[in-house]
Amino acid sequence: MELTGVSKRYGETAALADARLVVQRRELLAIVGPSGSGKSTMLNIIGTLARPTSGTVRIDGHDVNDLSDRELSALRAAVIGFVFQSFHLAPGVPALDAVADGILYRGLPLRARRRRAREALQQVGLGHRMSNEPHQLSGGEQQRVAIARAVVGAPPLLLADEPTGALDSRSGAVVMELLRELHDAGTTVVVITHDRDIAASLPRQVRLKDGRIEYDSDLRVTA
Ligand SMILES: Nc1ncnc2c1ncn2[C@@H]1O[C@H](COP(=O)(O)OP(=O)(O)O)[C@@H](O)[C@H]1O
Ligand SMILES: [Mg+2]
Repeated sequence: MELTGVSKRYGETAALADARLVVQRRELLAIVGPSGSGKSTMLNIIGTLARPTSGTVRIDGHDVNDLSDRELSALRAAVIGFVFQSFHLAPGVPALDAVADGILYRGLPLRARRRRAREALQQVGLGHRMSNEPHQLSGGEQQRVAIARAVVGAPPLLLADEPTGALDSRSGAVVMELLRELHDAGTTVVVITHDRDIAASLPRQVRLKDGRIEYDSDLRVTA
């Protein structure tokens, strides 16, 4: 994944300015910075959910600018899994079906999708919670369902925006452990976090301030 000279403006606001970031396969890194510094904007651009105002985004060798919205959706579905602070689980949907929906785009029969969903839920330690709806699960369990949904299609890149932000520290630690396991199994993982201890525990830190990358431990330079 490569951002070159990437900027994003919202009217007068420069949410991201001239960002350059290269993430290699199988990396695990933290994007940190105060509220409003552009972290979510950067993650949404990496995840192709937002297009930059200027600059180039390359994902898996593809220049995002060269792709139509339809091609972009296909690339996103195949390559990227997302986890958000607020879980984004639909009320009333049992965990098994929420996770099975993570591979709807594959066009597999429901039975096959459920079989994979079962495996993904077992992988996150929720084999005993498959028929539970979100309101029957703790915050930490809901986030683990969301992680299972994000990885059920085995995407090579996982993007997590404050995945522990709504959790108590113990549930947060379980979620971080899961992300580490996915990384150990070969997934590239990008984690946005407010938490300095979590950031410091990851192999690489990228720090944002006022929409600019002010530090990247990989480059060991401070802007
Ligand atoms: N959709 C949007 N419309 C207008 N302004 C936005 C939008 N998204 C983000 N911003 C602004 O861009 C800046 C960066 O926001 P964001 O990327 O959400 O920061 P962070 O995730 O670090 O808190 C903020 O000033 C925010 O208000
Ligand atoms: Mg944010």
